[in-house]
Amino acid sequence: MPDVSIAPSILSADFARLGEQVREAEQGGADWFHVDVMDGHFVPNISLGPLIVAAMRPLTRLPIEVHLMIERPERYLSEFINAGADRVIVHVEASVHLHRAIQAIKELGAQAGVTLNPATPLVMLADILPEVDLAMIMSVNPGFSGQRYIPASTTRVRRLREMLDGIGSPALLSVDGGVTPENAAEIAAAGATALVAASAIFNAGAPIAQNIARLRSAAGRR
Ligand code: DX5
Ligand code: ZN
Repeated sequence: MPDVSIAPSILSADFARLGEQVREAEQGGADWFHVDVMDGHFVPNISLGPLIVAAMRPLTRLPIEVHLMIERPERYLSEFINAGADRVIVHVEASVHLHRAIQAIKELGAQAGVTLNPATPLVMLADILPEVDLAMIMSVNPGFSGQRYIPASTTRVRRLREMLDGIGSPALLSVDGGVTPENAAEIAAAGATALVAASAIFNAGAPIAQNIARLRSAAGRR
């Protein structure tokens, strides 16, 4: 069984030293980068845009995924994919025409991911699951890094695992928010194949590579 993948979210990186930190994470064994895009409408915070993706693109050979926490994400798919995003994750709550958005991402040549807020019933994902390359459980309310993991998320990971297995989907199952070496094992055991982490990687005291290694060994294999 492969290791659980580790995806550093650059939201907690030191942006004055972004290039250095991206290289450090890549050398430290990161599997891909996660870029959190917030518009101040879908979530209260405003964060990163296509310029950051374009700036990162020449710095790493790893895939870059963007997590769009914006209203009507279909308006910006091509901008992010042209900037170098390999995968685009959209929220079921943000797009009335989710199926169309997922098809558009794939037609633009990227992988498609889908996610949902902690209070959104998982059934909202059910009919789009056969179409996606990644399904993600939000384990905090989106908008900020450094929040505490919502314990009920683990049950949601387990149920999403059953849904994916039930249709024979090879999609990645990732978990985003409040992931730490303390809860990584429980999340992986519930069926996650990827962990997104910002503070536990960029803001945990130890060097980035060490933080990644700690998460990876805590998560183990699956
Ligand atoms: C939250 C973002 C997360 C966030 C994770 O809205 O989607 O990706 O950066 O941060 P931590 O790992 O600190 O909870
Ligand atoms: Zn995210």
